[in-house]
Amino acid sequence: MSPVEPSVSPVCAMQERPAIAVALPGWDLEQWLPRLRNAAPGREIAVVTARGDPLPERYYLFCWKPDPALFRRTPVPLLILSGGAGVDHILNSGPPPAVPITRIVAPDLTRRMVEYVVLHCLYHLRRMDEAAANKQEMQWRSREFAAAREVTVGLMGVGEMGRASAIGLMALGFNVIGWGRSHRTGLPFRSYAGRDELDAFLVQSEILVSLLPSTPETRGLIDSKLLQRLRRDGKFGAPVFISAGRGDTVDETGLLRALQDGTIRAASLDVFVAEPLPPDNPFWALANVVITPHNAADSHPDAIINAIIAEIARFEAGEPLLNPVDRTRGY
Ligand code: NDP
Ligand code: OXD
Repeated sequence: MSPVEPSVSPVCAMQERPAIAVALPGWDLEQWLPRLRNAAPGREIAVVTARGDPLPERYYLFCWKPDPALFRRTPVPLLILSGGAGVDHILNSGPPPAVPITRIVAPDLTRRMVEYVVLHCLYHLRRMDEAAANKQEMQWRSREFAAAREVTVGLMGVGEMGRASAIGLMALGFNVIGWGRSHRTGLPFRSYAGRDELDAFLVQSEILVSLLPSTPETRGLIDSKLLQRLRRDGKFGAPVFISAGRGDTVDETGLLRALQDGTIRAASLDVFVAEPLPPDNPFWALANVVITPHNAADSHPDAIINAIIAEIARFEAGEPLLNPVDRTRGY
């Protein structure tokens, strides 16, 4: 729980309900505002910017990559609600005002990430890149594949997304292991924690999937040295990397080198240090890289809005928030 979370809501005693202020630059507000009004009838919904119009007196801030200058404006929000699972866009903005921050955990979002992870593990298991190349050349070539049960997927991040992805992969027979910051109990797969156990995790992993948040501890963590530790002597052969957490957890220069020299056979990359990926970025030119535009898990607006309204209801009832962010951990 966030150290700044109040034990009793500061708003429950007040009469007028705080507004919901929306700072979602680049989002299609025509999709969002009517749904939000519908889900919060009678409550003011205000679109706010870093400059210009006055802010509501009392409001909750629903935001995604807001202009950091917004956090220097007053009055400050009562609560900050991230429009996604990640909160690096908030914690790196500033710092944000010392009010509770929450993030999205929603079955719809999680399931979409599971689809992405399962899809890309299967894509690389069945060498779909080769199938596409064979089609270009009109070649009817077959090859032997490892079976899922012969391949170990190492999941970096065993939180909401990681756990659900593990279950999806295990249903297909993959061996799954996980790595997190702390030891979690009750996981249905073997897990490792912290830097001390990182190597033991890496040397077994043949498909490395990163679902890590961007924090001061994870930034730049996945570098060429780390990629060299992955297992390459099994039936799967050289390892594969799937990146769907945050771009800046990867040292992209090291990854590029690893993809060029065969340390890594192939990769699926959904997140990058610079997004949208600039046209001159060398990843575009690599045949062994699948690029997706940070849409591994793009959730339906209804799912996000339901999650936000549920958090506001708990906050107003003085109940603990469902998905509070711990500023000191950074996620
Ligand atoms: P959670 O907070 O539930 O899980 C985060 C996991 O990362 C936990 O297992 C946590 O460890 C681990 N972790 C954090 N810091 C470290 C560290 N220093 N060392 C090792 N492990 C660490 O987050 P979610 O699963 O909900 O989401 C994960 C991330 O996925 C989001 O932060 C976001 O960046 C990204 N995301 C990407 C999307 C996309 O479309 N590409 C969509 C949605 C999310 P522990 O178990 O000990 O807490
Ligand atoms: C998220 C994302 O954090 O889409 O939800 O990246």
